[in-house]
This record gives sequence, structure tokens and C-alpha cells, in this order.
Amino acid sequence: MTSKMKWWHSAIGYQIYPKSFQDTNHDGIGDIAGITQRLDHLTDLGVDVVWISPVNLSPMMDHGYDISDYYQIDPSFGSNEDFSELLAKAGEKGIKILMDLVINHTSTEHPWFKAAMADLDSEYADYYVIKEGRENGAPPNNWRSMFGGSAWEKISGTDNKFYLHLFTVGQPDLNWENPKLRQKLYEMIRYWLDQGVAGFRIDAIAHIKKIYDEKIISPDGPDGLATVWEQYRNACGIGEFLKEMREAIFADSDVLTIAEMDVPDPDQWLEYFGDNGYFSSIFDFYHTPYTIQEEKYQQDPAAFVDLLKQKLYKKQVLANDRVFFTNFLENHDLSRMPDRLIPQKDISFDSITAWSMMYFFLRGIPVIYQGQEIGMRDYPKTSIDGYLDLATHNSYRDYLLRGLTPAAALAKINQECRENSRTPMQWDAGNFAGFSEVSPWFAVNPNYPQVNVAWQAAEPDSLLNFFKKMTSLRKSEKLAPLMIYGRTVPVLQEVKGLVAYYREREGQRLVVVANLTANMQKIPLKKAVNEPLLNNLPGFIQTTAYGELQPYQSVIWYETGGESLAT
Ligand code: GLC
Ligand code: CA
Repeated sequence: MTSKMKWWHSAIGYQIYPKSFQDTNHDGIGDIAGITQRLDHLTDLGVDVVWISPVNLSPMMDHGYDISDYYQIDPSFGSNEDFSELLAKAGEKGIKILMDLVINHTSTEHPWFKAAMADLDSEYADYYVIKEGRENGAPPNNWRSMFGGSAWEKISGTDNKFYLHLFTVGQPDLNWENPKLRQKLYEMIRYWLDQGVAGFRIDAIAHIKKIYDEKIISPDGPDGLATVWEQYRNACGIGEFLKEMREAIFADSDVLTIAEMDVPDPDQWLEYFGDNGYFSSIFDFYHTPYTIQEEKYQQDPAAFVDLLKQKLYKKQVLANDRVFFTNFLENHDLSRMPDRLIPQKDISFDSITAWSMMYFFLRGIPVIYQGQEIGMRDYPKTSIDGYLDLATHNSYRDYLLRGLTPAAALAKINQECRENSRTPMQWDAGNFAGFSEVSPWFAVNPNYPQVNVAWQAAEPDSLLNFFKKMTSLRKSEKLAPLMIYGRTVPVLQEVKGLVAYYREREGQRLVVVANLTANMQKIPLKKAVNEPLLNNLPGFIQTTAYGELQPYQSVIWYETGGESLAT
């Protein structure tokens, strides 16, 4: 163990998408008072730290990821006082709050941007990335926005000036090259720390450095545009900004910073993460872009399990003794885990718990996304109009452009759309799933009478109660050091569809075996396995030579000394 003990090493995280968590003032939109009201749900679940997606003032073009005033809480979410109250009440219950820090861009409604647009010679114009278009009135270059279409928008009233937006047109990128802008952002960060937030999930931070040039890159799609990661994702020189921000605010503090970024080269991990890194931890996309619904996995679902297994192991093994990552299977940008990772015909308590056990005991901070603990599911739409997200509409148009029929394009969107995870939280079987008394901003999944918190809380064998078992096991006093600092050692890697690993520390060993297939699997044994600490199915069949994992059975046991698995 190389790192100093930090409060968040032992933490269990939970992500709240506030618009969809709990409405208290009957406007169909989740609010901060709703989070305060539901804190008991979080303490019951064993959560210590909560990341709340943005609640700052916003025209909501990207549901809050387009901020027009960093210092104000958006009225649809409540007031600044509501937020202080949440911090206080959460604090009383031992729950820390992380805000979402959106500093790669603002909203076009932010006063800085408005001032810039009103006067391109003002100092605010240099807060953004503004460039001259090409001679023919075309944008400065052919970079594609991550949310589709050109990354440039013509500034109305100018001859030929454009602003950069790597996300939606309502999210102009900030110009981090400007030191004054950086200071303004640091000031704002300090303000929220002073209010009592424990840290931040830092949005889209990999994109703050842009290596701009006017070169037209050969297009990589029918739209004539190109995605040029080297120039705006972890681009050369980004470290200077990250270092400055760390030193200005986070160094030697207990603030938890979790960067949303792809994992750069592992050789750079110590520079990026950990005690002396730019950030405490990371939410990365290494294992997220895959779905079992892809045609090629239909005949061979275990191949999909092995793909994810390799991704997770690679990161775990490299991170051992070096950095402390987060482990998650869901967030507000992904479709729901059961629909993305499990063959439709197999989605059940068994398969969901088997996958959950697999990820929850990896080394790092386990994070649960709202609704995951009750097995909330995707809610496919019958028309593209059922979706609100701009990025989703852009992908739909792109699919049509690529020649897909409207039905085929919609089918793809239904599979992959990030709004699948943004349907209102299902609290009970009452109207609108107990989320609101009025029709919510986004349709409730009609499965709520069967899938909801109230029912599962009362049912001992529910998924919700299973999550509680997982959190209490992670926290058991005796096992905590092993759970937190034990190295991850993958075993039986060659067994298809099986994810098996050890967590090892000072002669102690936790053994996690997860059969993520619909078939029985035998695992070779050298000696009898101790009484499982957790088992998602009743019983674990052992002979002298092997253990017999039933379809979607996961088992965890503890041992010291010789291994029971024949690896
Ligand atoms: C991040 C957020 C996503 C948002 C984007 C732009 O990827 O997770 O929801 O749309 O940044 O802020
Ligand atoms: Ca509300």
C-alpha cells in the first residue's frame, strides 16, 4: 500500500441525477429538498458519499451540464438555502456531498458568454474559444462535436467568427489558456468548498486543453467532419492546467476529486491520480462502451463477459498499489446495466446480483447509480420524440444519414440512449412511482408497480436488500483493510464467462467467483471452501475436486493460508 489513508478509500458512493430523484414541490422535476427527504434511503443502503449531477442555474439544454451561474442553485431544484440544508442534514447522517464541477464549458446564457457576444473586443471574448471561419464562410476547421455536427457555431452579427462547442451548441468551451478565466473558476471552486461540499466529480475535464489548428482533417464520416482526439482529449499540455488547479486548491487537502476522463497511459497514472496526482480518483470509460445487445454476442454471450473481464482486470492489476479508482456499472450517460450487460432472456435477480457482486468487491470505490439498487431498467420508446436529449437526437439524425431506416435507427437509440437511465426514480407503487404527484418531466418506466423501493425494502430477498448485504460486507470491521487495500489478483482467467479474482493482503484472501453465464460452471478446488460470506443463490455445491456454480451464481469467501481454488 503506497497511499496515505484517506476518508474516501473506505467510502461507498452513490450518484444522484437530481432531476429524476424526488420531486417535493409538485412541478414534476426532482429537487434538492427531495434528496434531503430521501437521505434515509441512502443511509440504509450504506452510502457514505453522494455525487449529485449539476444543480447550478442552467437553461437545461443539457439538463444542467450547461451552467449559466455557478453560484446559484437552479430554481427548478430549489434554492441555495435548500442546498445548505442538504449539506447539513447529510452531514448529520455522515454522508458527504460531491458537486458536479462543469468547467470545460458554460451555457451560452452565462453572463461571461453574453458579454463576449455583445462585444468581441471585451475581455470576456477571451474566456471562450473564438476563431475566424474559413474564406467560404465555413467553420474554422472540421472538428466534430462529441454530440454530433460541427463543433463550431457561427456568431450571429459577425462576418465570419465562430465559437467552439465540443458538446451541444448551448455549451461554449471555455478558453483555459486565459489565466484570468482560470482564476475565476478556482474562486468559484473555493466558494463551494467553503459551503461544505466534500469534493467534486469533475465533468469533461479531459477536454480543457485544445490544440487548435486550421487544418482540415480527412473526414471520418458522411458529415464531412472528423473527431480528432489528440487535439482535444488529454491533449498535450493539459497537465499544466491540471497541476495549477491542483496546487491552487486541492493539494494537501482532504477534498475528493474524481475526474471524468479516459484513462491516459498507465505510465502517467501517478502523475494524474493519488496522493500527488492531479486528482484523487477517476470515472473512466474503459469498460463502458460495450453492450451485449450487439449482434455478435447473441450466439456467444460469454465472449462479452470475457471482454469486460479483460477490461476490468487490466485496469485493476495496473492500479494495484498505485491508484484508487472508482468501480461502477451505471451512470446518467449509460443505459441501464441489466439491459446493457445481460442477455434479455436472462435478466433476473440472479443475473443482476451476480454482476453486482463481481464489480462491487473490486479494488476501488464502488459507486451505485440511483435506481441500480432496485434493478431499474431501460424504457424503450416507440418514437424518437419520446427522447429529450439533444445528443440523442443528433445520433438519430446521424444514423439516418448513414442509411439506417427510421425503425432501425430508433432501435439502436433505444438500446444505447443515455436517457434510459434518467427515468424518474421508482419509490413506490403509487402514482408516478412516488416520484411526484404530477406528471414528471420524463416518463416513468411502466414497470414501477413491480420495481420500486417500498416493495423491495419490505421484501427480505429483494435486490435492494442484497445491495445492503454487499455494503455491510464491504464495511465489516474485520474485513475492511482487505476490502480497501487488498490487491486484485485475477484467477481462472481462461474459464469463459467466469470472473474470478482474489483480493489479497498480508496473508489474507477474499475470493470472488462470479459465473456470468446461463450455464452451470465447475471451478477446480484443492480443498473445501469456507462458509461463503456472500452468495447470491441458496447453497454452494462442492465435491472434493470442484465447486459447482449454478447459472449466474456468485460466491465470496474468506481464507488465510493455502488457496482453496486450484488456479
Ligand atoms: C459529461 C456528462 C454528460 C454531459 C457532458 C457535457 O460527459 O457526464 O452528461 O452531457 O459531460 O457536460
Ligand atoms: Ca420539484
